[in-house]
Amino acid sequence: GKGNYRHFMEKELHEHPAVLGDTLRQYLDPKTLEVRLPRLPFDPARIGRLTISACGSAFLAGMVGRYWIEQLARLPVDADVASEFRYRNPPLADGGAAILISQSGETADNMAALRLLREAGQRVLSVVNVPESSMARESDGALLTVAGPEIGVASTKAFTAQLAVLACLAIGFGRARRELSTLDEGRLAQTLLEVPSHAAAILEQDAQIRELAMEVAKARDVLFLGRGAMYPIALEGALKLKEISYIHAEGYAAGEMKHGPIALIDSDVPVIALCPSGPLFEKTASNLQEAAARGGRVMAFTDAEGEAALRRFAERVIVLPRIGEFATPILYAIPVQLLAYHVAVLKGTDVDQPRNLAKSVTVE
Ligand code: M6R
Repeated sequence: GKGNYRHFMEKELHEHPAVLGDTLRQYLDPKTLEVRLPRLPFDPARIGRLTISACGSAFLAGMVGRYWIEQLARLPVDADVASEFRYRNPPLADGGAAILISQSGETADNMAALRLLREAGQRVLSVVNVPESSMARESDGALLTVAGPEIGVASTKAFTAQLAVLACLAIGFGRARRELSTLDEGRLAQTLLEVPSHAAAILEQDAQIRELAMEVAKARDVLFLGRGAMYPIALEGALKLKEISYIHAEGYAAGEMKHGPIALIDSDVPVIALCPSGPLFEKTASNLQEAAARGGRVMAFTDAEGEAALRRFAERVIVLPRIGEFATPILYAIPVQLLAYHVAVLKGTDVDQPRNLAKSVTVE
C-alpha cells in the first residue's frame, strides 16, 4: 500500500535513500571501497565499443551512463532510444557488447532491440529491476537494480537505482581497462557512498521545492537546462513534468540554448537550471545569465559553492548538498522528480496514473 503517503509516487520518492543504499551495497564494498561486479557476459577490457539502448527515463539513465563510461573507462559508447535503434541499421562488429536498461524488463521496444543485438552477435547485459522479466531472461547477463516494486507510472527510484548501477559499471570498466587507479576507484566509491544520506537531506527540502512548484504550476512552458552529465537530468526533469503535470517542458543542453531555444525566453517561462559547482559551473552559469538578461526567470539548483554566483541573477536558488561531481546526476535527479510531483499535485492530475500512459509499454 501507500502507507502514509498520498500517492505511490510520493512514497517511491521517499524510498530513494534506502534504494540507493541497497543498490550501491550490491555492487560496492563499503569497507574496501571496491566495485564488485558479478561475471559479465563480455570483457570490458576487450571491447572496442559499447551500445546502450533503452526507453524513456531508462534511456536518460543510459545517457548519463555513456558520459561516465566514456570518462572513466575511455570506452566509446553509442546511446540510442530502443524504438529508433534498429532503424539506424547500426553497423555492429561481431563480438561487440551492449547494455539495455529497463525497470520492467518487459518494454517491447527493448525486446526488439535485444533480439536484433543478439542476432548481430552482440553480448547483451541488462540492467533491470524485475529479475524474472523477459529482458533478464533473454539477455546474456543481468545486473539488478534493487529498487523494489515501482507502482507509479513515473519512474523515480528505479531511475536513480539505474544510475547507481551504471556508476558502478563505469568504475568497474575503468579499472578493467586500466584507466583508473585504486586511488581513483576509492575516491569515486566514497563519493557514491555519500549519495544516500544526501538524498535523505534533499527530501527534507520538500517545502522549498514545493514553493518552487507553485511558480512552475502557473507556467505553460518550462525549460530545464544542464551541461555534461547534468544534461540528461534536465531531460529527465522535463519528461517527468510533461508526464504527470501535462505542462509543456523541454530539456536542453545549457550551451545549446543560444542556438535556438533562447528565442522562447520571456518572463513567463521558468528556466530550471541544474548547476552544481565543478568544472562545468562557469559556462553553465554564463548561459543562465544570458537567459536572465532576456527576462527569463532562472530558478537554479546548485550547492553552497555555486550559490553566490547564481544569486546575482536568479529568481530562486535552491541549495543542495555538495557532493563530488561524479555523483551529481544521481543527486540532482531527486529534486527535479520531486518538483514534477508537487506541480502535478497542485494541478490536481492523476499523479500515479497519468493519462494515455502505461507503466509498462508492451507495444512497439
Ligand atoms: O520499464 P522500462 O524502464 O523499460 O520503461 C521505460 C519507459 O517507458 C519509462 O521509463 C517511462 O519513460 C517512464 N514513465 C518515465 O517516468
